[in-house]
Amino acid sequence: MKSVQLNNNVLRDGHQSLAATRMRTEQMLPACEALDNWGFGALETWGGATIDSGLRFLDEFPFDRLDALKKACPKTPHMMLLRGQNIVQYAHFPDDVVTAFIKTSADHGMNIFRIFDALNDTRNMKCAIDACKAAGAQAHGTICYTSSPVHTVAKFIEMGVELEKMGADAIVLKDMAGLIPPMEAFAIIDGLKKQLKIPVWIHTHDTAGLGASTYMSAIDAGVDAIDLSVSPFANGTGQPDTTRMLALLQGHPRCPEISEQQRKSLREVRTHLEKAYAELGDFTSHKNEVIDVDTLEYQVPGGMLSNFRTQLKEQKMEDQFDAVFREIPVVREALGWIPLVTPTSQIVGMQAFLNVKFGRWKQISPQAADIALGYYGRCPAPVDPVVQKQAAKQAGKEPITCRPVEAPGAVHKHMEDLRKELKAKNFPSDDEHCVIHAMFPPQLEKHLKGEGPKPNPVVLPAEIPKAAPAPAPAANTSTGPQKKYGLTINGKRIEVGVEEIV
Ligand code: CO
Repeated sequence: MKSVQLNNNVLRDGHQSLAATRMRTEQMLPACEALDNWGFGALETWGGATIDSGLRFLDEFPFDRLDALKKACPKTPHMMLLRGQNIVQYAHFPDDVVTAFIKTSADHGMNIFRIFDALNDTRNMKCAIDACKAAGAQAHGTICYTSSPVHTVAKFIEMGVELEKMGADAIVLKDMAGLIPPMEAFAIIDGLKKQLKIPVWIHTHDTAGLGASTYMSAIDAGVDAIDLSVSPFANGTGQPDTTRMLALLQGHPRCPEISEQQRKSLREVRTHLEKAYAELGDFTSHKNEVIDVDTLEYQVPGGMLSNFRTQLKEQKMEDQFDAVFREIPVVREALGWIPLVTPTSQIVGMQAFLNVKFGRWKQISPQAADIALGYYGRCPAPVDPVVQKQAAKQAGKEPITCRPVEAPGAVHKHMEDLRKELKAKNFPSDDEHCVIHAMFPPQLEKHLKGEGPKPNPVVLPAEIPKAAPAPAPAANTSTGPQKKYGLTINGKRIEVGVEEIV
């Protein structure tokens, strides 16, 4: 029986989930040689929130990190997370920008592009898949797992079949919230394996304590690869730790053979990462390290729960916590049962809050209106026509059924426009700078002018500190870069923080 392939996500999802995406390249480099030599099937090193966070908080130009990690880990294939037509942002970018981003990243050595869409709308993934093929890279078609009355095992399998037909080189079942129960993972993976010729991978989190068991079931169902991390950037809101998973797999016919040398080198990686974790103490939180059963009760991602608790407190609405979370399925149903992943998790959460505060659908946020009107893509089920009508009225625009990037009246910056803008400012105008300028214009400008943020100084503790008993500050509950958005409703100012859920 073929042993299961182990991937390692510590350099992307590991610190995105447990240290607010704040690990700096220089903190990664000492672990690279051992990670590269270990024999992982792939190393997730880039994408997701790391590009945003690197520019916004660490003053790192994203392609410099990719080059450094590629040089430090030359043997193992590198993998990145890509939000389809949103690339690594939230807006929909024109095809030429998506294509240039993928081509440039592949030229810098990115091997595997894990492509998803928050709504599971495959039309938003097609351009990225085609661009990967053209660039000679691997396109992994990704299915976002969520639970709802319309998300049946058969529907997920159907999506896998469609992605294979679109040219995907592998299918990934992505459970960003760590909510997939083991037996359901078994059913989906089993179905995909029976219907597809291409490999099937699975990605989950240990947020609710299910991750490692889910992997065991997926392995029994024949999954080809699983995503792991290395403690302390593992378990809790991250991926299960590699040593822990190997212990669970011991004696399993699909357990990879591990040498004493490999065990030793994993210990070395862990020792190094413990130091980095301690250095990032301002961004880690006990809450992220432990199992969160509330996430099971409310069926929402853990990051979304902790973020909303903080916000409701700020709004002096702590007593409404249950009411707001009971409203989430109501909002999801009206918006066609969209999955909860960045950015839809924030949008649905915000709308649930507005429904409780002002009455159901009395105030529709511009983003929720856009979902109802098709501007994010096709929802898994039809949008409630009454809500859609109300959204059109409040937003002052018509529903669309085309691919969002082709929405009538949408104004896009193409590569030539981006290049012109950079040239006009005397900035470098190669494709690398154009694609980053498309997504993060003010951050790139600050970086190029040398006005980027000063990364937090590294204060090395005399020894690795024990978990501090003090309550974690609010910002520490984030699983990714936090951004604050203001909203004025009936003259009242509301601030919401949004964070990545990965
Ligand atoms: Co993830």
